[in-house]
Amino acid sequence: MTAASEGRKFTMTTLKQLTAAAGFVLAALCISPVLAAGDTHEAKDVDFSFEGPFGNFDRGELQRGFQVFIEVCGQCHSMNYLNYRNLAEEGGPEFPEDQVKAIAAEFMVMDGPDAEGEMFERPAKPSDFFVAPFPNVEAARASNGGAYPPDLSLLAKARAGYHGTWNQFINGAGGAEFIYSVLTGYEEEAPDDGEDHGALAYNPYFPGSWIAMPQPLFEDMVEYADGTTASVEQMSRDVSAFLMWAAEPKLEARKRIGFQVIIYLIVLSGLLYFVKRKIWANVDH
Ligand code: HEC
Repeated sequence: MTAASEGRKFTMTTLKQLTAAAGFVLAALCISPVLAAGDTHEAKDVDFSFEGPFGNFDRGELQRGFQVFIEVCGQCHSMNYLNYRNLAEEGGPEFPEDQVKAIAAEFMVMDGPDAEGEMFERPAKPSDFFVAPFPNVEAARASNGGAYPPDLSLLAKARAGYHGTWNQFINGAGGAEFIYSVLTGYEEEAPDDGEDHGALAYNPYFPGSWIAMPQPLFEDMVEYADGTTASVEQMSRDVSAFLMWAAEPKLEARKRIGFQVIIYLIVLSGLLYFVKRKIWANVDH
């Protein structure tokens, strides 16, 4: 065997090993969504306006979603990281300032102490945080059969709708889709697994498939200010979009700046290329 063929043999083996390794990684990526999903369904795929590199929120959708949150979800869930004034900010539902004042004023907050050292209640102001439905975790648990309705401020970012590296790479993490799927995923016919689930409802989109939240949305539960028909799907979609905004209020600015940076880098690359040509013009190379 000559040295040359010896060398080629080495390259061929390395190439085969590399191909095998790449194949293994690909297979692992494809299998992982199946393993991670377990007996819980994958989130439904919803075509939200804020997806993709240029996607933005739909103002009307965010306003309707807020209405659903305040009238339904806000009876049990808190929203601790939002101020009422955030509702007027650019990139969000963009309610007019006076409307935000009126929204805030419907809630009472504890303030004080006053000059006599007494705490007192007053209507909320736009600068206040969203008033929680329960004063503490114990009270929230007590009125929900022992289960805690989690704070919804960051839920859309805390939850993944799609599992598996490959799937998330293609579809994004999908927290809003997860929320949508849970809200629309209640099923009356539960499979008989021989276990007693007490007061839990069957919802195969929730991890473990049994959830302590009774189905929260029903046809025409809210009357939309803009006249949109309040189907369960519509309300679920709107409130999921609203929760996505709550979890990432700067989504629009982030995408806009990202885009500007890319344009800047492209222009800069062009300029640098011409500078390089000029500098090397008289050098033999
Ligand atoms: C009657 C009270 C109640 C109402 C109304 C309610 N929820 Fe819940 N929610 C709960 C409780 C309790 C849990 C905890 C369930 C569990 O741990 O099994 C929960 C859980 C959830 C979860 C799953 C959280 C997780 O950990 O992944 C989501 C999503 C959710 N709620 C969204 C909503 C939305 C959106 C609305 C409004 C449309 C809403 N809920 C209305 C009580 C409520």
